[in-house]
Amino acid sequence: MSQPDLFGGSELAPASAPSPEAERAAALRELLHAHAHRYYVLDDPSIPDAEYDKLFAELQALEAAHPELLTPDSPTQRVLGKVLDGFTPVRHAVPMLSIRTETDTEASGAEAFDARIRRELCLTETDPPVAYAAELKFDGLAINLRYEHGVLVTAATRGDGEQGEDVTQNIRTVGQIPLKLQGAVPEVLEVRGEVYMRRDDFEALNERQREKGEKTFVNPRNAAAGAVRQLDPAIAAQRPLSFFAYGLGEVQGWEVPATHSAMLDALQAMGMPVCEHRTVALGATGPDGLVAFHQRMGALRDSLPFDIDGIVYKVDSRALQERLGFVSREPRWAVAHKYPAQEQLTQVDGIDIQVGRTGKLTPVARLKPVFVGGVTVTNATLHNLFELRRKRVRVGDTVIVRRAGDVIPEVVGVVAGERPAYVPNFRMPVHCPVCGSTVVRERGEVDHRCTGGLFCAAQRKQALLHFAQRRAVEIEGLGDKLVDQLVDGGLVRTLPDLYKLGVMKLAALDRMADKSAQNIVAALEKSKQTTLPRFLFGLGIRHVGEATAKDLARHFGQIDRIMDAPEEQLLAVRDVGPVVARSIRTFFDQPHNREVVEQLRAAGVTWTEHEPSAAADAASLPLFGKTLVLTGTLPTLSREEAKALIEEAGGKVAGSVSKKTHYVVAGEEAGSKLEKAQTLGVPILDEAGLQALLASPSPALPEVPPQD
Ligand code: IVH
Repeated sequence: MSQPDLFGGSELAPASAPSPEAERAAALRELLHAHAHRYYVLDDPSIPDAEYDKLFAELQALEAAHPELLTPDSPTQRVLGKVLDGFTPVRHAVPMLSIRTETDTEASGAEAFDARIRRELCLTETDPPVAYAAELKFDGLAINLRYEHGVLVTAATRGDGEQGEDVTQNIRTVGQIPLKLQGAVPEVLEVRGEVYMRRDDFEALNERQREKGEKTFVNPRNAAAGAVRQLDPAIAAQRPLSFFAYGLGEVQGWEVPATHSAMLDALQAMGMPVCEHRTVALGATGPDGLVAFHQRMGALRDSLPFDIDGIVYKVDSRALQERLGFVSREPRWAVAHKYPAQEQLTQVDGIDIQVGRTGKLTPVARLKPVFVGGVTVTNATLHNLFELRRKRVRVGDTVIVRRAGDVIPEVVGVVAGERPAYVPNFRMPVHCPVCGSTVVRERGEVDHRCTGGLFCAAQRKQALLHFAQRRAVEIEGLGDKLVDQLVDGGLVRTLPDLYKLGVMKLAALDRMADKSAQNIVAALEKSKQTTLPRFLFGLGIRHVGEATAKDLARHFGQIDRIMDAPEEQLLAVRDVGPVVARSIRTFFDQPHNREVVEQLRAAGVTWTEHEPSAAADAASLPLFGKTLVLTGTLPTLSREEAKALIEEAGGKVAGSVSKKTHYVVAGEEAGSKLEKAQTLGVPILDEAGLQALLASPSPALPEVPPQD
């Protein structure tokens, strides 16, 4: 099989070949599908985003010039359709069923299901265990994807099970859903599964809504349902969705595998996203039974990137499924075994103010204790005054509280009509409740802030906890309670004070045994050996999260360079924009912050300083920021090899020559690109010239400014 040609090789094709454009378009479609699968489904991108965009643009241009080349499965068709007046009804070829719910959330729920199946199959105690496929019950909405000859033709919601709505145009914007199936594909294949929104995508979406002062979504399921049923696809596309396949609808021309689990494997091989957390369990109990899976996933639930509300058990054998059949709208062979709900009702006893690390004042609802998402919750965030007002929360109200994953519990809404007689509206304090400093709200911002800085004990405590957390320098055992004691007792004011604590001072604290004090001292000692990214992140510079800290460390190599870097230099770091650069500069412009760094170093905190190496610091690479175009056949390097070398050297390879091209590398039989380079005056290199450029410590040839 020949490698698809990344570099517009069509210009080399003999004139008699069947439409080079058609071939190129097909090759581009294949490539883009393959890259999109790796990116969205496997989460393992194979090329940089910019390169993908370039291939995409090339295909778009080809299709625009030759509309006959446009196919419905083309990746360009993920682009937005037009605003609709309403959705067209779609009759499901095979009804979309629902599953019976086992409300018993304990292990006995799984046992009851197994017992029922065995009874219905007339199995006795001596018969072997039944094999069940166990998978997650995703909390999104069911979708039927209809593929004809491997191409996605319709996507429909479940509706009433008989008839749903045509949401194809929105579903096409979901990157994880293949527009085209891989491999030998059935004539007709309807894949059923759940469209959902990841928690991080949901949080980010709500954060954006909050910043804009717009309505937030109650939970990821509502946000996903809203996105799928959005009449304006441009809005739908801004609400990132994901998908997992879990079943089939109509099938023609495919020998469906004999078990549910093998069927999911087959769908996965066709490029459908299938959740990795699934198993085949033998019977209900025992180490590999349903109960064990339910418990294992229950423990994992908080750390999953998406919401689940239970586990689904399905009889694995399709033959047995057929024998069991259906009752009303539900198969007898499947059951949903729930987990404790992630949303509950409770009452607001009060509204408190919490002061965070950056001085942000957060209104927090004090609640009547309620069991949500597996823990007892007594506080839930109201985010800010605007959100609190929009949700119209007052003391005494009955509210819906949501707690999912590691996300802090939040009040998602008030249950209407249950408000006691008269309660005054909540007001933000004008002085910080912790330190008494003035509270301000900057123009255009929704948050109120305490202006006390590190004078404010609340901010100091949060700064210490931030520094001590696992993702920063990690000081094991330094938690809320201890930090409260250290700050309130005046033992610790700044980060370096931590390292002045000895066993004596610690052991003198309330409820602190000698052994614990020794452990803390050992943990402090251990935390001194850290890395530059952890240390930087730990300093708690506004807008500098873990990723930015890593980028800064990689770019500058040494903290002194970062502390002294002017904004322009900071802006050269990947993903650092003006707001972040400003914030870093402001932080290190404060003498007391530099003092903190110095004192921490003096206390013995060290990290591996590294010279920005050639591999690590992109800016020092010979082809950094350069765009090259390859054309023709090079004497020794294949195009893939040349491209890899250029990219390793920090350069980019583009498919076509423009004013922005820095160099064209031309080999034998170079065609129109060479001509274009000559017309535009772009420097032309041969392979030896390229090699010289690659070997040079800095650009060997005089820099050619892009002429735009
Ligand atoms: S199977 C014949 N599997 O739960 C069985 N459903 O009431 C059809 N769901 O509407 C559904 N995760 O939206 C199945 N792994 C899973 C599921 C799942 C979530 C949803 C689906 C369906 C509802 C069942």
